[in-house]
Amino acid sequence: MTIDKVAVIDQGSGGIRAGLAGQDFPTLAIPCVVQEAQDDPQQTWYPVGTGMVRDWEALSIMWQPLWSQLSVRPKEAGLMLTDAPVASPAGRKGFLELALETAGFERVAIQPQPVLALYGLGLLKGLVLDVGHGVSVATPVMDGCVFTHNTRVLEFGGQAVTKHLMQLANKRGYALSWNVHGQALTRAKEQLCYVALDHAAETKLARETTVGVTSYVLPDGESIRLGSERFEAPEVLFRPQNAGLECLTGLGGLVDSAIGACDMDLRRSMYASIILSGRKLKIKVDDAPRRMHLVFQGAAALGEIMKDQREFWVTKQEWEEDPYRAGAKVGGIT
Ligand SMILES: Nc1ncnc2c1ncn2[C@@H]1O[C@H](COP(=O)(O)OP(=O)(O)OP(=O)(O)O)[C@@H](O)[C@H]1O
Ligand SMILES: [Mg+2]
Repeated sequence: MTIDKVAVIDQGSGGIRAGLAGQDFPTLAIPCVVQEAQDDPQQTWYPVGTGMVRDWEALSIMWQPLWSQLSVRPKEAGLMLTDAPVASPAGRKGFLELALETAGFERVAIQPQPVLALYGLGLLKGLVLDVGHGVSVATPVMDGCVFTHNTRVLEFGGQAVTKHLMQLANKRGYALSWNVHGQALTRAKEQLCYVALDHAAETKLARETTVGVTSYVLPDGESIRLGSERFEAPEVLFRPQNAGLECLTGLGGLVDSAIGACDMDLRRSMYASIILSGRKLKIKVDDAPRRMHLVFQGAAALGEIMKDQREFWVTKQEWEEDPYRAGAKVGGIT
């Protein structure tokens, strides 16, 4: 059976990027967050955690409207999904069930995010540093293959920056709580925070002047003032101990450790090709301007190229005949 279209979903713990194969950018980029209490829009929680789905039912409800928004009929379409570097075989099984059984797609593929990020740049090798919502991962990739045993993970990402921003604002005298103000602080972080390239100079400027002080209006109308917090909050990614996180290293150490685990003769080329993916921050490496959608772009390009290559996909028929054999095509399931 030939397929009509290929839908592409880059599912993260913080957001869903969805579109069609062949596109440069996702049609939809929505936060992956659900409202906890019906009467309180501010009480929210995340159905997807770091590399694992906490609530498949909530996720299937979030996916449901996507197909009509993308003008895709699952029965006649393929679905390209992205696999987090910390994903598990059980998670892949869940995604295959969700795609082939619940959503009813004709065929599905799942590809590793770091490889897709490199494809998004037309590359086959490099060190991909993905700073996501809940996790930061440094993955060496060679000839389109992930070096799983050299991949290094830190259990924090953009959410830790937001939480640190809240801690710092509370030190200033505000009374912000995560459940109530988490979403607003996320927006404040995205709009106002930046990484200080010269931390000492920024600190001096913030201590002696008010040039960096900006107000941010919360949904309840209260206004908070943020100064040095704007660059101190992201600093947690480089110095996690600043926020009391039990972690000996930040992003710099993460990259060093992943490259250090590679064979000696590969290290130089890995250092020469450090790619920043994910949406978190600007740091001085190969920071592609479209980096926040690199994984989606790679997936959309690959989905288009492979659209008619039947053996690339797990088909509904293969899944029904032998799920474990079918699952082996996407990295294995349990
Ligand atoms: N302009 C921005 N400036 C700073 N942070 C941003 C910006 N845009 C998004 N973020 C942050 O990036 C994080 C989400 O990144 P990304 O979309 O790569 O994560 P994800 O793929 O959903 O999650 P994960 O990879 O951890 O599963 C969130 O914490 C979000 O607040
Ligand atoms: Mg991600």
